[in-house]
Amino acid sequence: MAEVSKVQEFYKDRNVFITGGTGFMGKILIEKLLRSTEVSTLYVLVREKKGKNVHTRIDELFDDVIFDALRKECPKFKHRVEAISGDCSVTGLGLSISDRQKLFSNIHIVFHVAATVRFDENLKLAYAINVNGTRDVLEMARQMKNLKALIHVSTAYSNCHLKEVHEKFYDYNISYEDVASVLEKLNKNEAEMVTPRIINPWPNTYVFTKALAESLLRNNSSGLPVGVFRPGIVVSTYKDPVEGWTDNLYGATGVCVGAMSGLLRVCFSDKDVVADIVPVDTCVAGLIASAWDVGTKECERTPENIPIYNYVSSPENPITWNEYVDLNVIHGLNYPTVNSVWITSVTLTKNPVIYWILKFLYHILPAIVFDGAAVLTGNKPRALRMYKRIHRLSNILAYFSVRQWRFHNDNTVGLWKKLNETDRALFPLSMMTVHWMLYFREYVKGLRFYLLKDPDSTLEIARRRNKRFTRLNQLLRIIFTFTICVAVYLMCVRVLNVVF
Ligand SMILES: NC(=O)c1ccc[n+]([C@@H]2O[C@H](COP(=O)([O-])OP(=O)(O)OC[C@H]3O[C@@H](n4cnc5c(N)ncnc54)[C@H](OP(=O)(O)O)[C@@H]3O)[C@@H](O)[C@H]2O)c1
Repeated sequence: MAEVSKVQEFYKDRNVFITGGTGFMGKILIEKLLRSTEVSTLYVLVREKKGKNVHTRIDELFDDVIFDALRKECPKFKHRVEAISGDCSVTGLGLSISDRQKLFSNIHIVFHVAATVRFDENLKLAYAINVNGTRDVLEMARQMKNLKALIHVSTAYSNCHLKEVHEKFYDYNISYEDVASVLEKLNKNEAEMVTPRIINPWPNTYVFTKALAESLLRNNSSGLPVGVFRPGIVVSTYKDPVEGWTDNLYGATGVCVGAMSGLLRVCFSDKDVVADIVPVDTCVAGLIASAWDVGTKECERTPENIPIYNYVSSPENPITWNEYVDLNVIHGLNYPTVNSVWITSVTLTKNPVIYWILKFLYHILPAIVFDGAAVLTGNKPRALRMYKRIHRLSNILAYFSVRQWRFHNDNTVGLWKKLNETDRALFPLSMMTVHWMLYFREYVKGLRFYLLKDPDSTLEIARRRNKRFTRLNQLLRIIFTFTICVAVYLMCVRVLNVVF
């Protein structure tokens, strides 16, 4: 007989407060909690956005295909979710008095997932959301009478200024209080000017504020059942609830979509560096299990006892950037997008000169030709502007694609070992369960379907189109090689003529 799930037992009839539930990871978290546990009510903090109120936003959230399985299994699942209007950048999360009281008396488990994940966010806003938001979640947690666990979602890169990252807090030369008092005196533009000096040695405001949030958590969570969960680079689902699902073009996924569409041909990256990518569903399985671990731990709740889970792939199931790109190209050739402008083929280089030359040949030169043709035919030139954006993004990502970190993940491995067979099947958080070759086939198919919105009926047309691009690419290579040979030959003849 199958063992009883300890994780399910922990969540049964419990109320959960989630921030960031409308985001990439938050959606998978909500879906998984509703489908795989018997939580009572999920209270989801939502802000008004683009003229939509919180109820419309949460309703729209459930239209996503990831909720299809749940809709079938339990058509009334929406009754278990309540939207709470709030904003992490506002003091006290911008909650109404009645919502605060409701959360204080009802909540057992908190997942603080919300953050601005923009690497180049203005420091004042990044601080308000990522640091003050964490402060306010902690302050609320202190008043929750029935709190069993609070998991703060950080990032494996919060300590990216170090080469080796253990599952522990680190001391910083700058405190979150100092940063707050500096930022208080500055407006957004002034903050922009001094940001590089303030955040040094961190490369961007995102990881910097995530590090400060960890530091705040360490100083202010005595007596609370807190845990910190640090994922690596989170990408599409592996299997759960559907294969290859994603809803955004951040980071590594943006690179892959750029490659699939034939726009991105060269990347500044060290091909031998390990990419710490993790699928969002296994990551969420880890997140859910980590709350169980924290909530069932018998220990004094001191900063030294706060468990930190580095959720990364490098220690157990490493994959280099070269393998990442190769697997995408292999599957990209099989599942091309119908809107591609060229074949899927990407060169990785960490040599700045080679990068610059290839960027000019593969990106800028064709863009000039395209824009020229657009102007001549009375259309709007767009290519150079688009490449400007692509290159800005590539510059931001370069820091992470040429550096190697050594992450330790003993707590995450320990968490996996603590799960019984039933829980391992329900919450397969171990990176050992991921088969990259299979993963990337679904990843590419998912990008094609969910992000590029290519229906399956276009696959054959896309493959034919891709074959034409391949032949054209070979022809251009031959012409290019021939031209270079002729030019070299003519130069040699001229030199020989001059010498003799
Ligand atoms: N994705 C990754 O690769 C990755 C890697 C490591 C760690 N993480 C961490 O994982 C968490 C979730 O990331 P994600 O990839 O799911 O990001 P995401 O898709 O951008 O989602 C961010 C979530 O935070 C919410 N949020 C942002 N600002 C807010 C505010 N002022 N008030 C209330 N809610 C706010 C967003 O709400 P709206 O819908 O209203 O914008 C959204 O629900 C973050 O803490 C991030 O640092 C992510």
